[in-house]
Amino acid sequence: MIKIAIDGPSGAGKSTVSKALAKKLGYIYVDTGAMYRAAALGCITAEIDIKNNPERAAEMVSYMNIDIKYGDDGSQLIFLDRENVTDFIRTPEVSIGASDISKIPDVRLKLVDIQRKLGEQSNVIMDGRDIGTYVFPDADVKIFLTATDEERARRRHKELLEKGQTVTFEEVLEDMRYRDKNDSTRAFAPLKPAEDSVLVETDGLSFEETVEKVQSIILERLGQNAL
Ligand code: DC
Repeated sequence: MIKIAIDGPSGAGKSTVSKALAKKLGYIYVDTGAMYRAAALGCITAEIDIKNNPERAAEMVSYMNIDIKYGDDGSQLIFLDRENVTDFIRTPEVSIGASDISKIPDVRLKLVDIQRKLGEQSNVIMDGRDIGTYVFPDADVKIFLTATDEERARRRHKELLEKGQTVTFEEVLEDMRYRDKNDSTRAFAPLKPAEDSVLVETDGLSFEETVEKVQSIILERLGQNAL
C-alpha cells in the first residue's frame, strides 16, 4: 500500500491539500488531527482538565472508541463512542485541548495504532504532525507543508468566520503560537520535518498552486505507481 505523509503546523493547508489530492489519486484521506480533537472533546465533555490532569485524561481516552468513516461525498467523519462528532471538534477550546492531549504518550500510542491499521488497508494520504517521523517512517512520499504564523492565522481566522464563529485575528494567532510551541516541544513524536521530507512553503501560493506543487512532488517520486 502506498503511504503519503503530509505533516506541518496548524493552518498550513494540510487538510485541504490532502483532501484534494486523495480525490485526484483515488486514495483514502486520513486527518489524524481529528482523532486528537475527538479525544479532547470527550475529555472536555467529561469535565476533565487535560492540561493539569493528564493521568485522568489518558485513562478516559483508554476507554474511548474513536473511529473514522467516510460520508457519501468522501468526506471524513469522526465518531466518538459511535456518535458522529465531526461538527463539534473545530472550536478553539477543542483545538487547545487536542494540542494538550497529544502530549500524552499513551494517548498517542492508542491513536497511532488506529492510524497504522488504516494505512494497511488502502493507499492513504495522511496528514498530521508525526506521520513521516513516527507513524509511517517508511512512507513513500513525505511532505512538510508550512507557512509563516501570520499567514496561517489569517487563513484559519477566515475559515472560522466563514463557519460563523466569533473570534479575533489576535486570538487565532495566539492559539496558533501556543499550539505550535506545544506541538513542537513535546517529548514524544514532536512536530518536525522528517529528514527525508520535502519542504513546501505555502506563503503567497494559492490553494491550486499548492495542490499543483505537492502533486508534482508526489508524481516525481512515485511516477505512474501513484495512480
Ligand atoms: O491538525 P489539527 O490542527 O486538527 O490537530 C489538532 C492537534 O492535534 C494539534 O495541535 C496537535 C495534535 N496532533 C498531533 O499531535 N499529531 C498528529 N498527527 C495530528 C494532530
